[in-house]
Amino acid sequence: MKYILILTLFVLVRSVRAQSPALPYLKKHGDATQLIVDGKPYLVLGGELRNSSNSNLTNLRPIWPRLVKANINTVLATVSWEQMEPQEGVFDFTLIDGLIDQARENKMKVILLWFGSWKNTVSTYVPGWVKDDFKRFPRIQNADGSGQERLSTISETNKNADKLAFKALMRHLRKIDGTAHTVIMVQVENEVGMYPNRRDLSADANALFDKPVPGELMNYLVKNMDALSPVLKRAWTEAGSKKSGNWEEVFGKGRLTEDFFQSWTFATYINGIAEAGKKEYPLPLFVNTALNEVSGGPQDKVMDIWKAVAPSIDLLTPDVYYPQFAEYAARYHRSDNALFIPEARFDSSVGGKAMYAIGQHDAIGFSPFAIDGNDSIHAHPLAKSYKILSQLSPYILENQGSKNIGGILLDTINPTQELQVGNYMITATIVKKKQRLSPQSAYGIVLATGENSFIISGCNLFLTFKPLTPGPAQAGFKNVSEGSFVNGMWRETRRLNGDEIDDGRHLLFPGDDRELSIQNVEIYRYE
Ligand code: DGJ
Repeated sequence: MKYILILTLFVLVRSVRAQSPALPYLKKHGDATQLIVDGKPYLVLGGELRNSSNSNLTNLRPIWPRLVKANINTVLATVSWEQMEPQEGVFDFTLIDGLIDQARENKMKVILLWFGSWKNTVSTYVPGWVKDDFKRFPRIQNADGSGQERLSTISETNKNADKLAFKALMRHLRKIDGTAHTVIMVQVENEVGMYPNRRDLSADANALFDKPVPGELMNYLVKNMDALSPVLKRAWTEAGSKKSGNWEEVFGKGRLTEDFFQSWTFATYINGIAEAGKKEYPLPLFVNTALNEVSGGPQDKVMDIWKAVAPSIDLLTPDVYYPQFAEYAARYHRSDNALFIPEARFDSSVGGKAMYAIGQHDAIGFSPFAIDGNDSIHAHPLAKSYKILSQLSPYILENQGSKNIGGILLDTINPTQELQVGNYMITATIVKKKQRLSPQSAYGIVLATGENSFIISGCNLFLTFKPLTPGPAQAGFKNVSEGSFVNGMWRETRRLNGDEIDDGRHLLFPGDDRELSIQNVEIYRYE
């Protein structure tokens, strides 16, 4: 009897363990990579707080209701090394615990940003005891031997100090969040790099620069030769495609080679920190980058160097403050790198950019910067776009990585886009100034839900459909209804047959973000 009881208990414990949801992780879904949270794919409809907003928990508290009203489901927030380890080896997690508690009260997920050795290229977030002891914690140096306010990337002491702190953070997260999973990803460092010099010019760095390019990087280049970024490939080819040699022998002399070297040192350092952190608590980790002319961060020209030597970093992510959003989204969406936008300039275009990144590039999520700087964010186009994306998320997450989803982003320079979604070629055209107000941009997301049916949302668009499968060549609208999804069920608010579909010529999405709606469309075909 006693044995039967013990056996039953054992089986029960095992099955509870088996049922307890896994940690957040990344998983392939068709061609896409998705973030899985509590066993289900999760779309990050995010916003990044300003750097200092959660450096004081009282100031943080009033921010949440605004974010909730803006349909944000994930907040990206700073962890400052200085505040977390004020004395060497003495950790204070008060701010992190408070942030997580407040997020839970507001049913939000959190992505933590580890502001450790570098933040916006400089070392302003390192604790005072690191700043003061510049002999023990060396800096990147100029040619004349003077130091920069940047920790050296090649110092084991620097790396170990950051690593110990990051490990303590991840260990603490496992302890307080290992079951609830409020924290779903962590960014390691922030916009690393350096300028105006392209690399550290200390004696140690010079010596390393003269040594052979490490084998793991050479092997990666040889193995992935055809898929390398054009800039890296050209430099290597023009220098003779050598399979060994020092940095200048392999890539030629010049600024670019110095960028490659400095990127390798950053990637190696940060991978060491990420690897150690993952041993404590293996959350998905990413590194973000500015897209300006700094040397060392994972800009697209050096993504391959990062991929070669930083396998513990799951995603390399662009902070897009420049207007060429579609171009950057395409560069960072690769088969070995899912797209995630941790920062974007918080202007009126972000609602459309979120839809486009998620629809066209299977993005894991989107997050404009300084989300708490706007008191009326609930009325911002982002809030409306997130509302729609959240209603559509079951369809989006099911269809990412397939041909049944697409995104549209147009402006006056690129006023037309063709995209194949499901069985149709769709032509999207921006509504011109003469026809509508506010014609500067247009955007949308298209989901094929059946052979001839679509769910679409967008702004300032005309859409026409051309069948791609055998059968009658022309497409018309069998029925078009406008509405929303309430608890997953379609609720029609209007039927569109006349002016609202331009007498059957196109689907029409009005040019005002505030009117953003969903259309549920059935197409028919005729000769
Ligand atoms: C990019 C950085 O990553 C952010 O932390 C912040 O400094 C913004 N720039 C300011 O525009």
